[in-house]
Amino acid sequence: MSILSLENVTYTYKNSQRAAVSGISCTFEEGNVYAIVGPSGSGKSTLLSLLAGLDLCTEGKISFDGDSLDGLNLDRYRRESISMIFQAFHLFPLMTVMENVCFPMELCGVTPKDASPRAKILLESVGITKEQMNRFPSKLSGGERQRVAIARSLASNAKIILGDEPTGNLDGKNTQNIIDILCSLAHEKGYCIIIVTHDMEVAGAADVAFRMRDGELRSQI
Ligand SMILES: Nc1ncnc2c1ncn2[C@@H]1O[C@H](COP(=O)(O)OP(=O)(O)O)[C@@H](O)[C@H]1O
Ligand SMILES: [Mg+2]
Repeated sequence: MSILSLENVTYTYKNSQRAAVSGISCTFEEGNVYAIVGPSGSGKSTLLSLLAGLDLCTEGKISFDGDSLDGLNLDRYRRESISMIFQAFHLFPLMTVMENVCFPMELCGVTPKDASPRAKILLESVGITKEQMNRFPSKLSGGERQRVAIARSLASNAKIILGDEPTGNLDGKNTQNIIDILCSLAHEKGYCIIIVTHDMEVAGAADVAFRMRDGELRSQI
């Protein structure tokens, strides 16, 4: 069964005449990286926020593991089933790298004693050194910060990772490094990774690339 399945998903913002997301039907499977490319304003971020359970579609249906999102506890869905990575990384500036990864685990009830060895393993898995773990995010490069954000997104047991332009602030070498990490998470660990991107290099590396235009998911590239 698909981990996410969309049937005729439409979303119209209040006070707007036009649907930002219009009649999308598709499925997303574990073990794949999906890219969604499209011009600014085509509805990519709106679609991600629907997949993340931040908004409910105004028409149609999104199902997670066969259950419609509008019947689920959305707080729990967001906390346990979805993680997000962003162009601007969204790390906590006053926490060290290590604390940034431990914090969400502690919010979910993991004790600090258990959180820190797990954070260390996750950070090592994305190539962050022990010395870097004790730095503040401002003392890391953009590529390193995004790797920390990915490690943090792995702290929950969510199998779906949503990325809104996660390589948007990175140069070519760091972009390639992030692509490699995301592909290995999907192919070796079975994550379902859905990323919005302007970057054709990212789209080319995805298992499935969709093009979005005027709210519609038009074609696979
Ligand atoms: N909060 C909002 N209220 C009203 N319209 C919005 C809002 N956010 C986005 N839109 C509109 O929805 C459409 C899709 O936006 P968005 O999903 O942000 O596109 P993208 O991420 O592809 O740039 C655009 O026409 C945008 O102006
Ligand atoms: Mg956007």
